[in-house]
Amino acid sequence: MTGNHFDLAVIGAGPGGYVAAIRGAQLGMRTAIIEKSATLGGTCLNIGCIPSKALLQSSELYHQAQKQFKRHGIVGDFKLDLKTMLRRKDGVVKQLTSGIAHLMKKNKIEVFAGLGQLRGEGKVAVLGADGAETLLEARHIIIATGSEPIELPFAPFDGERVVSSTEALNFAEVPEHLVVIGAGAIGLELGSVWKRLGARVTVVEMLPHIAGTADRAAAEVLQKALQAQGLKFMLEARLLSIESEGGLRAVVEQAGERHQLPCDRVLVAVGRRAHTAGLGLEPLGIQTDRAGRIEVDAHFQTAVPGLYALGDVIRGPMLAHKAEDEGVACAELLAGKAGHVNYDTIPSVIYTWPELASAGQSEEQLLAAGIAFKSGSFPFMANGRAKAAGERDGMVKILAAADDDRLLGVHIVGPTASELIAEAVTVMEFGGSSEDIARTVHAHPTLSETVREAALAVDGRALHM
Ligand code: NAI
Repeated sequence: MTGNHFDLAVIGAGPGGYVAAIRGAQLGMRTAIIEKSATLGGTCLNIGCIPSKALLQSSELYHQAQKQFKRHGIVGDFKLDLKTMLRRKDGVVKQLTSGIAHLMKKNKIEVFAGLGQLRGEGKVAVLGADGAETLLEARHIIIATGSEPIELPFAPFDGERVVSSTEALNFAEVPEHLVVIGAGAIGLELGSVWKRLGARVTVVEMLPHIAGTADRAAAEVLQKALQAQGLKFMLEARLLSIESEGGLRAVVEQAGERHQLPCDRVLVAVGRRAHTAGLGLEPLGIQTDRAGRIEVDAHFQTAVPGLYALGDVIRGPMLAHKAEDEGVACAELLAGKAGHVNYDTIPSVIYTWPELASAGQSEEQLLAAGIAFKSGSFPFMANGRAKAAGERDGMVKILAAADDDRLLGVHIVGPTASELIAEAVTVMEFGGSSEDIARTVHAHPTLSETVREAALAVDGRALHM
């Protein structure tokens, strides 16, 4: 196969797309990837997971220096140099996005810069910034174009004062008062960043609780911890409008009352929607659902033969690791292998401090489904390693089937919850039980002992409580 003929062409070089391309290339396919942005890596690497984690790390260190070092006997006058903090974040992004370019080269994947536009079965055009058009032909085409922030019609983004997560990663100064609309992952993470750096932060959330579909008890523990850090929550509250005359104000309704919140920035983080603009779906008769997502079957196939879609642009949680796994599975299916994603064990994490990490079902979901379960929980306060580290907040909660003890859900609020959840995911993947965790030796002293103690607590036999 030569020229612009490929076995696989992937549109979008985010975690779903670039991983699908790598796996396709590994399996012997001549692969092309099309990306409209100047760098590879998509939202996650450029303006999402990675820069936000860089800022979460830096701001947490600053917060510790301000609030906790003294307790450890470390004294000094620590000041914020926001420019350097933002530059470090940009450096991390640059390293990782160029790492993806290197991976493309290593796997002999051809990168096309421009907007990918479908041109009928097996054909995709690349529209370059200079107006040039290159036509690619491919046996298989994967759409992995991701998602974009949802804009509220009564609070349109202006890139300056009313912003999405993209701009909230780059404020040139710490806002005096940041109003965040939406207490989901983005609102809580970026709200935490700017709170730690010195802003007043008010989070306005429509629902009566934070953290969306997370286990309610875990979300409550997180909310308390964040409130103790100074974040202010207005729950069951709705943004009505943003007024700018005589100073920026978010007008919010709560319990029938109107509140005017003077502020200098508003971050709107009320979810993301599938990004399909300019792809040319309509002429091909491709359906999208109410949320604008492309409909696919269990093998990621759209209504058009040879055309597939994965990641944020299809059903399921909008998470980088979900997209990556779909990328691998889709490429394997195209190569005639048994690619598969276990949607029941996809972990989700909110990278605040403490972190909230979950896998499987919440207590509320089990109750709604009428599934009988047992529950055990254990606080980090009673864990030696957490104590030594000065970590007091959080707990592990384990939900196991009442009949055979199968692990149904694990919810961790606490230090490094994002790492601790991996054990639960592995046990679930193997169809394991809470007893399996309870009988597994965990190193002492580690935070992971809290997971084991919660597993012991399922059967009423926690040792250190
Ligand atoms: P989200 O869907 O997680 O949360 C949005 C929140 O806004 C919800 O709690 C919703 O009730 C609330 N809301 C919606 N309209 C509102 C209104 N008019 N007024 C007040 N509250 C309102 O969305 P988010 O945080 O924007 O994240 C977008 C996507 O990106 C999600 O799918 C999320 O999972 C993903 N993401 C994941 C991260 C992670 O895994 N750590 C980090 C950042 C984003």
